[in-house]
Amino acid sequence: MRINQHYQEILNSSNDSLFVWKIYSEITKLLSENLSLSIREARLEARFIIQHTLKVQHQFLIRNSNELIKPEKFKKIMEYVKERLSYKPLAYILKEWKFYDMKFFVNSNVLIPRQDTELMIDLILNNYQKQESLSILDLGTGSGAIGIVLASKFKKAKVLLTDMSSEALNITKKNIFFHKLKNISTIKSDWFEKISNKKFDLIISNPPYINKRDTHLKNKVLLFEPKNALISKQKGYADITKIIKLSPKFLRANGALYIEHGYNQSRKVKELFQKNNFVKIKQKQDINKIYRITSGQIKI
Ligand SMILES: C[S@@+](CC[C@H](N)C(=O)[O-])C[C@H]1O[C@@H](n2cnc3c(N)ncnc32)[C@H](O)[C@@H]1O
Repeated sequence: MRINQHYQEILNSSNDSLFVWKIYSEITKLLSENLSLSIREARLEARFIIQHTLKVQHQFLIRNSNELIKPEKFKKIMEYVKERLSYKPLAYILKEWKFYDMKFFVNSNVLIPRQDTELMIDLILNNYQKQESLSILDLGTGSGAIGIVLASKFKKAKVLLTDMSSEALNITKKNIFFHKLKNISTIKSDWFEKISNKKFDLIISNPPYINKRDTHLKNKVLLFEPKNALISKQKGYADITKIIKLSPKFLRANGALYIEHGYNQSRKVKELFQKNNFVKIKQKQDINKIYRITSGQIKI
């Protein structure tokens, strides 16, 4: 990567004190020009880096844009920027990320929670009452993002989070502890393998669903994420198929399954729901008008 002289000087200067607004705009340009981010994306990342380093909220940056940043803070900011220029995702650099406005610790053993997945939370919040004593299963929980947000919204629910990866579950547990949630438990399991004799009102999953030949896997962010969180056999359908087939046995009467899938998988996923006795099948589009979530209720 070639960074012009002006930016090299900024990156390497450690004793300079600069104004908040100046650093904000320089980092935005630097990230945008070198990582092919849109200005909007780069501005957001620059903001996260500055906020994280100064331990302040967005409002503080707006109100104090004419403040000077101390040299040691400036140095730290530039260390983060340098690391980001190696294409490492910002979430892994800062070791935390926001999902549904809640903080989640992350590392390279878990998928970075996506904004797309927030759609799943919106749907469930729309379809269930917050006072309901639901029993919820989040399969392939990773950082715990989906299950933890649901446990915090549905205080009377009992939520079970599972993953096959012990390393991922270590992060899940850290996040449960951080959010002080008592209505959650975790279990290491290959999908339903260790979940005998339990039935749920709601099974939710964002499983691996990318075909190993999908060219999106060349995307720089995905290169840093765990392959077992992304790729699934049978052209991306192996895990989705397994979950849809096995779920009915673990659902209570009128229980529902919600599953996130790839941009090009909605037709086949709907067929899988139909073949496995689901009714009231619904599909939800993301902001780009692509069907990304399929849900269905089990016949009584
Ligand atoms: C796409 S990630 C989703 C993580 C998280 N739910 C989210 O939405 O951010 C898929 C998760 O499924 C887990 N996983 C993969 N194969 C699994 C299996 N056979 N049984 C249980 N979990 C599995 C991975 O470890 C990963 O954490």
